[in-house]
Amino acid sequence: MTVRPFVAERPREYAPTPPAIHRRDAPSGLPPGPRARVPGELLVRFQRDTPSFLLDMRNRYGPASSFFLGGELFMGMFSPAMVHEITVAQQSSFIKGVGFERMRKVLGTGLLTNEEPIHLRHRRMMQPPFHKARLDAYAEEMSALSRATIDSWQVGSTIKLAPEMMRLTLLIVARTLFGTDADRYTDQIAESMEIAIDRIERTMLPGLDRLDSLPLPYWRKFRQAADELAAIAEDLIAERRQRNAEGDDLLGLLLALRDEDGSAFTDDEVRDEALTLILSGHETTANALTWAFSWLGTRPDVFAALRDEALAQDWITAGAPATIADVMSTEVAGQVVSESLRLAPPVWVAPRRALQDVVVDGVRVPAGAHVLISQYVTHRDPSYFPDPHTWEPSRWTPQLHADLPRGAYFPFGAGTRKCLGDQFALLEARIILLHAAARHHLMPADSLHPIPRAEPRATYRAKGPVPMVVT
Ligand code: HEM
Repeated sequence: MTVRPFVAERPREYAPTPPAIHRRDAPSGLPPGPRARVPGELLVRFQRDTPSFLLDMRNRYGPASSFFLGGELFMGMFSPAMVHEITVAQQSSFIKGVGFERMRKVLGTGLLTNEEPIHLRHRRMMQPPFHKARLDAYAEEMSALSRATIDSWQVGSTIKLAPEMMRLTLLIVARTLFGTDADRYTDQIAESMEIAIDRIERTMLPGLDRLDSLPLPYWRKFRQAADELAAIAEDLIAERRQRNAEGDDLLGLLLALRDEDGSAFTDDEVRDEALTLILSGHETTANALTWAFSWLGTRPDVFAALRDEALAQDWITAGAPATIADVMSTEVAGQVVSESLRLAPPVWVAPRRALQDVVVDGVRVPAGAHVLISQYVTHRDPSYFPDPHTWEPSRWTPQLHADLPRGAYFPFGAGTRKCLGDQFALLEARIILLHAAARHHLMPADSLHPIPRAEPRATYRAKGPVPMVVT
């Protein structure tokens, strides 16, 4: 029987979440941090600009800090060693934290929101379609769709870069996932995804899901969007089953996957995994590209180097098929992507919850504490990235890659919860950048404010549509 993600219960197989730690029973010896003089004071600062709040914690209190939000203990842990301990070495002591419960309302028990023991079973089954060997098949599709979008930009016109990137990356992930079956749903998927992503927004506060049942249009729309996305995925799965042909797109692979004991995903599980891949597979890459093009608009030297590199690619100029080997050997495009993911990491915070008492790089973390590691903060550590607030792609030398300690740069996370689509995203980002650089130059429409302001939500978005003039 189909159970829609919005109303699904938290699976019973998951470990029970330990109770949060309230101020009155907080243990002694917590790391330093601000203590509010009036209730809600910190909450307001945290809500107003969470990335800056976290950066300020690191600057004032060092790699580990503690503070109370909504009366519950939060710990910020920002050194590379701490990041490595939490995501890799001691990852079994943590589960995904605040925000993921709400995400589960849209994505159900897909890889991003799932917990053990279900997560690892699914992860093992879903890894093969994302192995590098399969990516060549996607590269050509990515290249064709990018070319078509970029060719449609008229010289002299102003495009809205952010929605344009969102559309293109959605088209790419929908095609690789569902083939052309989803083409007739693309507008509906885009619209519902936009609403769902917007409502998942303030992901860092505990207890926000209480709002979802309020009889207000804003929250009703959240449920409608989640149900609509589920219904589209269910239709596509049912159609595919009826045709009795699995197909060689990702949906076909998901339907054909078998566990070691021969068991397959249920239709609900395929639906949740498909929705997870659509959501995590387009919004992140679109944001990274919007930032990258904005910075490129201010750096003619880097743009010229990227354009030269693009014009030397025969998969761009001579119609040769795009292969992962060709695309991933491009140096300038690689530096532009690495640096954009450093300074504007689409996933800018990874909330966790400690399942048990654990010591992280010498700091005691009590069971139940909310733990925040943050790409935004750690990627701005001047010990590893001199002049950390400046976008400077040339810093990405082979030496820097070799010298960085584990946990200093983690745009895709690490450990068993590492991004499944990292290679997919890196390939796609380079393809789009290079196709665009070969044909056009994008200049910020507002030359006084060439770099958009940030509007951090579940991802690190640029605020507004980001108008760019095509020259
Ligand atoms: C620039 C683009 C992307 C960035 C920066 C990014 C980043 C991340 C990060 C940081 C995580 C881990 C979150 C955590 O630990 O809490 C994650 C998980 C995930 N990502 Fe991505 N991602 C990107 C693109 C993609 C794409 C293109 C896909 C699929 C087509 C994808 C699929 C997933 C999935 C399925 C997970 C959950 C993995 C698991 O827990 O086993 N991502 N991503």
